[in-house]
Amino acid sequence: KWTMSEFIGKEIERIRSIVGEKGQVIGAVSGGVDSSVAAKLMHMAIGDRFHGILVDNGVMRHNECVDAKKMLVDKMGINLKIADASDRFLANLAGKTDPEQKRKVIGNTFIDVFEEEARAIDEANAASGAPPIEFLLQGTLYPDVIESISFKGPSATIKTHHNVGGLKENMKLKLIEPLRELFKDEVRELGRLLGMDDELVWRHPFPGPGIAIRILGEVTKEQVAIARKADYIYIQEIKKAGLYRQIAQAYAALLPVKAVGVKGDKRTYEQMICLRAVETTDFMTADWFDFPTAVLKKISSRICNEVEGINRVVYDVSSKPPATIELE
Ligand code: XMP
Repeated sequence: KWTMSEFIGKEIERIRSIVGEKGQVIGAVSGGVDSSVAAKLMHMAIGDRFHGILVDNGVMRHNECVDAKKMLVDKMGINLKIADASDRFLANLAGKTDPEQKRKVIGNTFIDVFEEEARAIDEANAASGAPPIEFLLQGTLYPDVIESISFKGPSATIKTHHNVGGLKENMKLKLIEPLRELFKDEVRELGRLLGMDDELVWRHPFPGPGIAIRILGEVTKEQVAIARKADYIYIQEIKKAGLYRQIAQAYAALLPVKAVGVKGDKRTYEQMICLRAVETTDFMTADWFDFPTAVLKKISSRICNEVEGINRVVYDVSSKPPATIELE
């Protein structure tokens, strides 16, 4: 079996032989480790003939777009277009409260935006004599391949998963999946070898529908702002406590129910934040993470003090099953 550094050279050669001298490739990039590693390999193989698209769906984490751009464009030199479609996503989500409907809206809007970007690239390429886009890059990992072929786990059957893989049937492009034989730990190793920051290499997975499935009920700009701010504080404190790598996934969700509280000497009637953190290796089953009490105390008091509209923080002590990792 090859080492990860041999893999890089071999994969770049393989991509070049598939794509040829002039071939154009498009791929959605999310700011996560898988799509970033895939994009980096593609860029090393064919340079700017790879067109990365980062769709800002308005429900990404705090600063995520800016951070992704810094990393992917400024540091890694990837040819990346950031398509800010946040207003469009939020407009399409207006009034939607059903989890599956929210997922569908986000998936469909994503496809629309991505296809528009692809057409724009084709038009610009045509003007300069380059051929149209022929290939689609996807950061599919081995476990995803297995799951979609044979093993329908709870995640696959219970929720409509949306990620950058959801485009297959809609675009007549040939797929290139450089990571399809790799496990997550191998992709992290690859990321490290390719010079990515630890911050990116060790990032927790983040679902395609983003914060939208971490806000129960309707997703509005105001609700996103609250969830985002709480999540940012939560992750920051987890990192400060040195616990980030022990936890497989953590997030703050917004529960749109109100309870009475007191701030200063005033009565409040505000929403609550639900913290989730799980330990898991395969994401099919998961245990809730047993935080040191002091860390939870700090997180809770910071969120209550710093996030306007929140007067209570609760911790989710549910395993999967019967709960899932995400709330929707
Ligand atoms: P659940 O909530 O089903 O989540 O226990 C299992 C894992 O899958 C992630 N997840 C998603 N990832 N698009 C994604 O790319 C999705 O639509 C999606 N839904 C859930 C979830 O974050 C967890 O890691």
